[in-house]
Parts: sequence; structure tokens; C-alpha cells
Amino acid sequence: MKTFILFLLLTAACIPVISQQPDFIIPLPDKFTKQDGSFSLDQYTPIVIRESAFRDQANFLQQELLKRNGLTLAVQSQSTVPSIVIDRLPGADNVKGEYKLSITPKEISISARSQEGIFYGVTSLVQLIQQSISKNATALIPCWDIEDKPAFAWRGILLDESRYFFGKETVKFILDWMAFYKLNRFHWHLTDDPGWRLEIKKYPKLGLVGGVGNYFDTLAAAKYYTQEEIKEIIAYAQQRFIEVIPEIDMPGHARGANKAYPQFSGGGSKQYPEFTFNPGREETYKYLTDILKETNALFPSEMIHLGGDEVHFGNEQWNTNKDVQQLMKDKKLANLKAVETYFIERMADSVVRMNNKALFWDEVAGSSFDPANSIIFWWRHDRAEQLKLALSKGFTVVLTPRIPLYFDFVQDTMQRVGRRWKPDGSYSSLQLVYDFSPSRLYDAKHAPLVLGMQGSIWTERISTTDKLEYMMFPRIAGLAEASWTAENKRKDFAGFSRRIEKHLELYRKHRLYFYNPFSPQENPEPIVPGFINR
Ligand code: ACM
Repeated sequence: MKTFILFLLLTAACIPVISQQPDFIIPLPDKFTKQDGSFSLDQYTPIVIRESAFRDQANFLQQELLKRNGLTLAVQSQSTVPSIVIDRLPGADNVKGEYKLSITPKEISISARSQEGIFYGVTSLVQLIQQSISKNATALIPCWDIEDKPAFAWRGILLDESRYFFGKETVKFILDWMAFYKLNRFHWHLTDDPGWRLEIKKYPKLGLVGGVGNYFDTLAAAKYYTQEEIKEIIAYAQQRFIEVIPEIDMPGHARGANKAYPQFSGGGSKQYPEFTFNPGREETYKYLTDILKETNALFPSEMIHLGGDEVHFGNEQWNTNKDVQQLMKDKKLANLKAVETYFIERMADSVVRMNNKALFWDEVAGSSFDPANSIIFWWRHDRAEQLKLALSKGFTVVLTPRIPLYFDFVQDTMQRVGRRWKPDGSYSSLQLVYDFSPSRLYDAKHAPLVLGMQGSIWTERISTTDKLEYMMFPRIAGLAEASWTAENKRKDFAGFSRRIEKHLELYRKHRLYFYNPFSPQENPEPIVPGFINR
């Protein structure tokens, strides 16, 4: 009997308790196979680049390992000892970001057809090293064969700095973590009612006066980015293969700008004063086009997001504004929606003439301009018809439905400061983010039009870095996996949770104020000063 129990215990111990997923990599790679053995990495392991085109990515790896682990690896062109070898894969670069990472006891090989692919291979290796590094800065990295590529080209984060201005160090912090998770689009909501955050040389009061105040304190000192700071942040993002897309919201959400230049205001409503630009004045179009020209000169993304959301919140005074009334007569515009469309189409045209795409929220899905020059952002999760309309008109789209991709929504029922969807109390848990299933939203024939998805950090309820981190982590990791890993390979929330637990260890090491879904009391919810939950 005793022998039998011993036998049972031994067999139980032999059942593999660790899944065969690469323990630490988020997002989960497309293909992976575990191999025997491990590679022993320490400060004498060289990084070998076979092509000078990959020097920047090798330097990035060098910097990351120095910053994170105190390792100082040399970059060289040859080596006779076990090395990290960065090389080009033969063939055409058809899938942007594709790479191979092969780890044997003798060599770590990162190969790709593009710098971007090498960068993602480097990122996966950095993640594996974080898991296996010991106190004396050696890492025994388990051997894997990984072949990886992204499911979606657009893997974004939106940050709203109108409602709360965090400043460039926080933006770089976000870009760092985006890069760690292979996210590649930073949608920067720089203008809205509480404040204007972008220096425009031709209209300096936009920053100096429009930048005064935020959502929590209308008299807070002016805060905005100078053009030099914007350039610095763009360069930082480029090094991480992140494209920075500015949003200049119009014709609504314009109070920040209207504080500075009231002559272009189209008024608002009782609840939303000075909410719009004036679509009835020719000068407004010139003013906004000048602003967009400077914006275009600053941002190399060749895309400007023009907002276009929620105009009906505060366009009441268009009914009595003599310029708008005259415009309606002259252009035979039957109602305020027609005025809005007229405005949007003119501004989109200005942007397209600058050789940029004009990006919009889903209110604009019914417009009739050339879909080849535009991208629609579907955000109203309760209005699936807007997504269908955009796709049926041939627009490319980015998915950022409030539930589950707005990160100002709470992530569990215990949380007090954050949004919930009023009609049904729903919110954005980590699992909902991970399980987000784009393919259920549209017909397969429209799949090529869906560029990807984006997590949106609106800041009416976020005014400290603790709160920002609490709302971002770990949902950013769920977003990364939802946007990178193919949907048919993303059905294992239990496996994802195991990997997330490892990432929580890393968050602790970096002293992040993250939300722990397994033990919510670890970091109590930060209560934002001055915030009144409505
Ligand atoms: C939005 O949330 N108003 C795009």
C-alpha cells in the first residue's frame, strides 16, 4: 500500500505543472516550441550584428539590459563565444514586424526582414531575460524556437492630456511600456475643453492661455508641450517603432482653444459653454488650417486625428449664430448635422491636401469623402451600426469600444473612481480586454479594413501617476495580447493569467502602482484628489 501511495505521489510530481507557453512573453508569440537546455547569459555575452542596418536595435538591447539589469554587453560584428546574433532573414518583408527568435545553448539568434521585426525579437528576448536573471546578473534562458508576427498592424494607446497634463516624463514612461508590449501607435489627445496642450507658433495664446486649467482645477497654471518637446518625444517613440498621432479635436470639444481666441468660437450650450468652433466664418477654416499645417510639420505620422465626436453636446448656439445661419442659407444646409458634415469635409480636405490622412471618431462614419484618405475610430460600443456603416463605405477602422477598451472604466466591482456603463453597469475587466474578439463584430469580407485596436486612457478620473498606473496595468498587457496574438490562438485566459502573475513581479520591481486582479488589496485604489464621482 505504502509503495502504491509513493507511486501515486511520484507520478503526480511528474505531471508537468508548467505550461509549454514561453513563461514570460506577453503578447503570446504566434508559434513557439520548447527545446532542451538553456543559454547562459552574462555581461561577457556579446551582441553580434551581421548587418550595420541593425545597429540601432542592438544598441536598444544594450541600453535595456543596462537599465533593467545592470548588464553591460558589447556590440560587435563577430564573436567566437556564445553570443546574441542579430541577422537578416531572406525574402520579402510582407508581414510588418515578423521575426524569429531561436535560443540554443550555443547561441541566441534574432532574425527578421526589417528593423521593426528585429526590434520585436529584441523585446521578446528582453522579456525572457527579466524572468531568468539572477541577483548576480546571469540569466539561464530556457531554449525556445519562436516564430512570431502581429495579428493587427494598429496596436494603440490613446492618452488624453487635455483633461490632465502629465508631461513628457510620463509620456516616455508610457512609450517604454508600450514598446515592452509591442504596441505601436500613440494617439495623443492634445486638445479638448479643459486645455490646449500644443505650442502653435502662429497662435501663441493657444498654449499660454488655452493651456491654463485642467479637468480638476480650471485655474491650474498653463501646461502645454513646446514644439521642441514634441520633437523629443517623437524621436523617443520612433526609436521604439511607435508612431505618434496628434488629435486636434473639432468642431466640438474646443473650449480650450476658444479661451485663447474667442473670435473663432461658435458658442456652446448651458452645460457645455464655448464648446464649438464657428463653422460659419471663413476665418475659422484659415485659422484651423494654419494650426494643422504646423501640426503636420511637427508630426511625421502623415495622419492627423480631427475628432468630430459629440458635436451635438454643445452646438445649440449655432441655431442663433448669424454666421452659421448665413452659411446654412448660402450652402442650402438643412440642419445642424449638415453644418457639422460641411465643416468636417472641409477640414478633412485641408488635411488631405497636406498629404495626410484625416482620422475621425465614429460620428463621421456617414461622411462621403474618399475612404482611402481617412480612418474611422469606432468607440461607441453600444452602436455597432456605426462600425458596420464605416466598413460598408470602405473606411479603414480602428476599434476602441468603450467596453472593454476605455481604461477610465473600472476593472472590478470594488473600484470606486472610474466609469461604468450606466445602462447595465458594465466595465472593462482584464479578462474582457484579453477576450476582446474583433471578428465577432463584422463580416469576414471586411476584415482587411480593420487595422487594429486601441486602449484609450481618458483622464477625467486620472490625475496622479499612481492612478494612471493603476488604470493601465495590467490591462495594457491584455490589450497587447488582444492586438498582437491571432484570435484563434488567444483562448487561454488561464495561461495568460500565469504569465501576468510573472509580469506583476516585474511591476513590483519597477515600483509601479498596479492593480492586482488576483489580490486587489495589494495596492488599494488611489482616490484622486478633487474628483467627484458623477
Ligand atoms: C469619445 O470618447 N468622445 C471619443
